[in-house]
Amino acid sequence: MLTSEHSKRLASTKTLPIVNSYNEWDTLQEIIVGRVEGACVPQFDATIKANTYPKNWWFFQKYGGRPYPQELLEPASKQLNEFCRVLEGEGVTVRRPDIIDFSSSYKTPDFEATGLYAAMPRDILTVIGNEIIEAPMAWRARFFEYRAYRSLMKEYLKQGAKWTTAPKPLMSDELYDFDYPIETVEDRHELAELGRFVTTEFEPCFDAADITRCGRDLFVQRSQVTNKLGITWLRNHLGDRFRVHTLKFQDPNPMHIDATFVPLRPGLVLTNPDRPCYQIDIFKKAGWDVVTAVQPTLPDNWPLYMSSKWLCMNILILDPKRVIVEKDEEPMHKFFKNLGFEVIPVAFRHVYTFGGSFHCVTCDIRRDSQLEEYGF
Ligand code: NVA
Repeated sequence: MLTSEHSKRLASTKTLPIVNSYNEWDTLQEIIVGRVEGACVPQFDATIKANTYPKNWWFFQKYGGRPYPQELLEPASKQLNEFCRVLEGEGVTVRRPDIIDFSSSYKTPDFEATGLYAAMPRDILTVIGNEIIEAPMAWRARFFEYRAYRSLMKEYLKQGAKWTTAPKPLMSDELYDFDYPIETVEDRHELAELGRFVTTEFEPCFDAADITRCGRDLFVQRSQVTNKLGITWLRNHLGDRFRVHTLKFQDPNPMHIDATFVPLRPGLVLTNPDRPCYQIDIFKKAGWDVVTAVQPTLPDNWPLYMSSKWLCMNILILDPKRVIVEKDEEPMHKFFKNLGFEVIPVAFRHVYTFGGSFHCVTCDIRRDSQLEEYGF
């Protein structure tokens, strides 16, 4: 027998637009999961240098412009496929981008580069209501990344979605501070405090992963890849239906908000103990509980070229009760269980090596949600 909650959900499924998502937690119905096939190590330029640590620079110097080593690709690809299988088992429709060889080089009037990958749809796409926005990302290696998603975008457009591409940056030299000094963590802290990043304000740029969604309120950070003009574009584009708030964290190297500040459900946000938020009062005043993540368990020798161990916070919420957490992050399992979640463990550390976890490698296309306010 259907409970009233159940029948309400089935009824709303019938009327939902194909693309429909307003937050990070409502019941997930359809998702894009990225892939590592065709991935290329980005060439070592100022933007890569600014987002990686000196101990890893050899990797980009050695492999930059070449396909990722097969021994890294294969286990990551297997874990991604298994993740898709788990999602399907939980009733979620999974879509994948096209396979593209990102090691082809390209030249625009402003620069030359090779590509990166279609592994992290969260960086390039954001869904706000029935609109899917392609972000104007800042890395030259990501200029043509949208090509891997065009088949899907056309399909969603034909089924009624609103499809927007933000103004494509020129990515000429003026967008970057080539003298950005970043030899030490202290340098980075000092520069981040001063609001100085490797991207300038020459033209708008942002990565969609610097945005997190709570219904009418969106929270964005200025980062190495998202500038103030990019945030202005987003605010102007969305208009009065949404409020775009800028958050700042004590973070020496901000890039992508989803291992720093993760809304879990209405009234509950997960924060990073190493990256306190300067505007946390916005949440406290709105009556939200603020919980702090427990320490990651990733061993120090795990190959992580583009991100931190805080990928343990980069979880995927299937609904306000179910969350996908990395299999070996046991303290995080306990933490989520104490918050009343059912934890679905999935092995994902080989994907970490490509710079992201469950939230990064996905873009939720449809959740059973509507535009709401959560007290802000
Ligand atoms: N750049 C951040 C976020 C990654 C999703 C980190 O490395 O923690």
